[in-house]
Amino acid sequence: MKKQLLIAALLILNSFLLFSNTLLQNNYLREGISLNGKWNYIVDMYETGYYNYRWQPHDGSPNPGAGAFYTNTKPQNKMDLVEYDFDASPTLLVPGDWNSQEEKLFYYEGTLWYKKSFDIPNYDSSKRYYLHFGAVNYRADIYVNGQKLGMHKGGFTPFNFEMTKHVKATDNFVIVRVDNKRAADEVPTLNTDWWNYGGITRDVTIYELSPTFIEDYSLQLDKSKKNVIAGFIQLNGDNKANSKVSVSIPELKINKSYTADQEGQIKLEIPIKKYEAWSDTNPKLYEVIITSQEDKISDKIGFRTIETKGSDIVLNGKTVFLKGICIHEENVMRGGRAHSMEDARMLLGWAKELGCNFVRLAHYPHNENMARLADEMGLLLWEEIPVYWTIQWGNTETYKKAEQQLSEVINRDKNRASVIIWSMANETPMSDERLRFLSKLVDATRQLDNQRLISAALEDHGKESDNNIMVVEDPFAEKVDILSFNQYYGWYGGDIDNIKNIRWEIDMDKPVIISEFGAGALQGYHADNMTRWSEEFQELLYEETLPTLAKIPQLSGITPWILADFRSPRRMLIPYQDGWNRKGLISETGNRKKAFFTLQQFYSELELEK
Ligand code: GCU
Repeated sequence: MKKQLLIAALLILNSFLLFSNTLLQNNYLREGISLNGKWNYIVDMYETGYYNYRWQPHDGSPNPGAGAFYTNTKPQNKMDLVEYDFDASPTLLVPGDWNSQEEKLFYYEGTLWYKKSFDIPNYDSSKRYYLHFGAVNYRADIYVNGQKLGMHKGGFTPFNFEMTKHVKATDNFVIVRVDNKRAADEVPTLNTDWWNYGGITRDVTIYELSPTFIEDYSLQLDKSKKNVIAGFIQLNGDNKANSKVSVSIPELKINKSYTADQEGQIKLEIPIKKYEAWSDTNPKLYEVIITSQEDKISDKIGFRTIETKGSDIVLNGKTVFLKGICIHEENVMRGGRAHSMEDARMLLGWAKELGCNFVRLAHYPHNENMARLADEMGLLLWEEIPVYWTIQWGNTETYKKAEQQLSEVINRDKNRASVIIWSMANETPMSDERLRFLSKLVDATRQLDNQRLISAALEDHGKESDNNIMVVEDPFAEKVDILSFNQYYGWYGGDIDNIKNIRWEIDMDKPVIISEFGAGALQGYHADNMTRWSEEFQELLYEETLPTLAKIPQLSGITPWILADFRSPRRMLIPYQDGWNRKGLISETGNRKKAFFTLQQFYSELELEK
């Protein structure tokens, strides 16, 4: 009994110690050692590599034994029994989901172990070494040279661990246990309308850092103080207290020096006079260089303000209409998770081709290439956490997971001018517990970032008295800056030929975004426009819906569902769906459906009206 108690105590201590370090800000523009490429993998359906046959975790036990996959044990002689060998096992590409790489893993939901050997060129024992993951779906346990660095949950946000005391110049190995099983108390929960792609789905990079380095910073135009860049810089390391730091923006002839406080933090307010504000029509980015005594980092930051005035969304003091589209993080041509800058160029290039100035990144944080490219292209972004449908509203652990993912995406993208809206949720059923859960997320968001707007995709319904009159009766609408809702009149209920007769009764003096509408169509299937699944039906729905929405006085944006077809286990109708949600305007062969051109035309005419 004593041994069990000791193991349990060690595990609890372990879990407290294994939090992931604060996120490295702007790792993207640091020189790193990429671990992208081929990793060996072992499918571990029965968790053999993590538990012994009594279902006790090897993890954290004083002598885990050869069976623990993360030890990467090799037989020492011909008698030894070791029942796994990463180096003899097949490989998967990282970054990338496993479902779209291996036929036999297409439907796999479970645990899979990855292993990668690595050297550190010019290894320097006086430096600090961090291991950074862009994302792993869903749970990741990270081990380096047999030592546990930590565990991270959440399939769409970055994390990193310091591994300084575990690495050497050569012959290192990193082992990652990935488990993408869905669970009722997770975020998202069991039911979604997208493919549960598992794996190390984004970049993996080693960063070599000075003993005291620049860990985090935020520089944003402060909408409450005209022409002031407000923010902070946070150092990490033994020499952080009273350390000297300078911030320069060469193009604005700004060069300021600061002294960090005892915690290694600097709060800054930099007045700027003549500058070009970042906007969708003028995506001006400035080089910002932060130099400390031992470190230097540069970033490209756009300075803009975003606020609401009554029912207007106001960008740099001017009203803007958000001509948008929804996007899932999927390269539809590959039928797998998007992760690269090339994927981002394809997806955001299609949005620009549509005439968009706005994109809703549904339903979870996308890889950071999207926000960085949107900064350059002049696309405004809605970013969202996967608080989707039937989350466990009364579960405090579930709330912590949601807030953790929210803080991770805000931490990562807080310097991206393109990001203007944080979305708390999508289509969540109303209840007191759900209202408390979402209201707490709003409070957390305002704490983390008071410069951007808050919304969530709510739902509408027809009035009892006249179901041609649609209303949004949701107490959460009071808590958000922008009233957004999904409406599917003509697809889920309502007759397509009645769309022109409906209208919305909205008595809130807030901007309104229609965060989804759409219809499914199999590209290349042509019939009369009352035949569901035909391109003509989808085209008619757009033709009828767009002018009807335009009648909403508070309308400030629309993001039709969705740019491209995407995989979903919910959509199995042969021959139209076959595992794909067909509401895309572009098919998995890259062909544009007729409704693509209807939306493109609508946006171009909007342009003319301005
Ligand atoms: C819902 C949901 C989407 C889903 C879409 C659909 O509104 O927000 O995630 O894919 O409708 O049913 O196609």
